[in-house]
Order: sequence, then C-alpha cells, then structure tokens
Amino acid sequence: MPPPPLEPKILCVVGARPNFMKIAPLMAAIRRPDSGLKATLVHTGQHYDEAMNDQFFSDLGIPAPDINLEVGSGSHAVQTADIMRRFEPVVDSEQPAAVLVVGDVNSTIACALVAAKKGVPVIHVEAGLRSFDRTMPEEINRVLTDQISDLLFITETLARDNLQREGIAAERVHFVGNVMIDTLHHNLARAVPAHLTLAPVAYPEFAVLTLHRPSNVDDAVILRQLLETVVEISQKIPVVFPLHPRTRKQIGQHGLDALLEGPNLKVLPPLGYLQLLGLMKEARLFLTDSGGIQEETTALGTPCITLRHNTERPITVEQGTNTIVGQDRQRILAAVQDILEGGGKAGRIPEYWDGQASQRIVAILRTWLNARPTHGARP
Ligand code: UD1
Repeated sequence: MPPPPLEPKILCVVGARPNFMKIAPLMAAIRRPDSGLKATLVHTGQHYDEAMNDQFFSDLGIPAPDINLEVGSGSHAVQTADIMRRFEPVVDSEQPAAVLVVGDVNSTIACALVAAKKGVPVIHVEAGLRSFDRTMPEEINRVLTDQISDLLFITETLARDNLQREGIAAERVHFVGNVMIDTLHHNLARAVPAHLTLAPVAYPEFAVLTLHRPSNVDDAVILRQLLETVVEISQKIPVVFPLHPRTRKQIGQHGLDALLEGPNLKVLPPLGYLQLLGLMKEARLFLTDSGGIQEETTALGTPCITLRHNTERPITVEQGTNTIVGQDRQRILAAVQDILEGGGKAGRIPEYWDGQASQRIVAILRTWLNARPTHGARP
C-alpha cells in the first residue's frame, strides 16, 4: 500500500502577549486528529517575562513552543531584524506548507516577510483592521503583513473594504469571525473571580484601567494628565490598574510614582488571562488603550472607554460597548459619568463572534492548501 499523504505542516508564529489568545484555539483546531493539518509552534520571544508570557501559556493550555527564537526586547528595527535572522533558518529546516501569523505585533510582520521572500504562503489571522494612524507601529505592521499575505482571515466585514481599497484580491479574503472570542468562550467558566484577584480589598464595584500604548505612556505630559484623570475617577469608583512593564518603566522614568498612591487606586502586576477575564466579567467599566480588550468587553457586554483617538476595531463602537474618547480629561470623565449614571451602551455581539472562528479557518486552510501544488522554501 502507498504511504498515506503527508499532512501539510503549518508553522504557527507567536511573539507577544496579544498573540497568545489568538493562537491558542488555532493550535487546538489544527492539532485535532481530523484536521488534516499539522502545526509547529514558533515563539519569537518578543515577550518573555513570566507575567507577560509563561502565565498565558499555562492559562490558555497552549502547547510549549517547538522552537523559541529568544529575541527579547530592542528597538523596532533591532527586534524585527533579529526575529527575521533567527526565523529564516527555521523556515529552511522545517519546510512548512505555510506560515501562519496573527495580529499586528513586530513578530507578525517579521515572520511574514521572511516567509513571503522565500515563496512560502503567508496566512494572516486578524487581517484588514485599520486605525488609519501610521504613527502606531501596529498599523505599519498590519498594512505590510496584509500586502504579502496569501490568505487573509478577517474578524469584521469592514476589513474587507480596507483590503479591497489596498488592492488585495477578494478571493484571498475570508470573513470567519474572531479567534480571540473563541478563547473567551472556551475559558469563561474558568475565569478567576474578581474578589480573589483584588484580595484583601473587597470592592462592591470597580473600574479597571490598562495602559501601554507608546502614544499614551511614552510622553511625560500625556501620561501625567491621564494618571491625574484616573485619580479623579478613583474618587467616584475604585480603579484597578494592572501595570504593563513598559508603563511601569515610563512612570518611574517620568517621576510619576506618587500618582499611583491614591487610596482608591489598586496597582497590580500584569495579570494572567483568567484573572483579567474575571475582572472583565465583573467590572462596572474598563478604561483601556488595548485592541483586544475593546473586543473582549464587547463580547461580554462590559462598558469600555478607549483612551485613543481612533480604533482599528470599529465594530466594537458600532455594535459593541466601546466608546472612543482620546486623551482629553473632560471627555474621559464625561464617559465615566455616563456609565456610572446610565449604565453605558447596551451593545450586541458581532456576527461570527461565536467561538467557532478557528474551526472555520482550519476548514478553509485545508481546502486551500490541498488545491495548491506543493512548493518548498527558496534558499
Ligand atoms: C507589544 C506590541 C503591541 C501589543 C503589546 C502588548 C509591537 C510593535 N507592539 O508592545 O502591539 O499591544 O505588545 O503587550 O509589537 N518588556 C518586559 N517584559 C516583557 C516584554 C517587554 O519588561 O516580557 C518591556 C521591555 O522593557 C520592552 C518594553 O516592555 O522594551 C516594550 O516591549 P515590546 O515588545 O517592544 O512592545 P510592547 O509595548 O509590549
């Protein structure tokens, strides 16, 4: 009997915290015995702290990476270049049928670029999102990754229009929903109750703040104004603030530590996925500059105030619970007041945010790969 045909191998890439909740359901779906595909997981090492990395692998049940490139931190150029240099020999030795990247971090564009130049198909999950703000490093990563991707999976239909405008052929684009919401559904019952995360303080109600975008935390004047506004908010409702390492560093460098000492401000280290999920379920409101949290709060019906001037995820505003307020003190305070007095926007769940996105992706990917002649990587 002839040997059974080899299952196409997908080289799946992760690097930074927001990638982990996207790759978890994809790895699980590809590694199901009936998927017809094989997965190898490559971690670039962009995030490496226990709290930013290991905790997520254990919370989300992601298998240990098969390969870790251990790049660590650096300027954008150094980090991106290091990832590329270390990823190229992996593509050469693994000879994957495709490289799958998620989201918009430096690891996403770096690995996509290596694969594309080697003639290996690039699959981009969470394609087509645009903030139209090129000062955001992620926006550059999004636009460029999409340009060199062969198969693009989108979370909302507006992404299709963005890609069409940029000349990307419609047949490469597939609307499948949101893999991050797959992860949310899968883990909701395991979320850590808020009182355990907040102990020993028992808050009857609370707000949560997350802040890490360079545009909010790197400039001393902006960061001070934002933190002063948060102190004002904490006089109305206690504010829980898990601190990203970049933000902690900037607060220290700008001499703003005293602003974190308010009685109603609870500063925590970065939280694991299940802890943050517990807070998202129970918080009265979220203040954030994260992309993922805008979507997760929409899926949970928790009011979200986004401390940015734009969003690449407009469906969270049109259909969800998200309000964009920028960095202006008055607008932030007014949005908080609206929620505390009126409950905030009701919102509804966007189409296909149903926990099945990774299954849809695997089905499309399998059909697409099987229809292709096989090519190895170019030297
Ligand atoms: C990166 C992503 C951003 C994502 C964010 C989530 C890019 C361009 N940005 O930003 O889209 O929303 O991750 O966290 O890829 N650091 C540590 N420990 C770590 C990782 C980082 O201390 O495990 C510190 C280092 O001082 C580092 C700084 O945080 O220089 C920034 O890390 P970096 O990976 O460059 O970007 P993030 O701000 O985390």
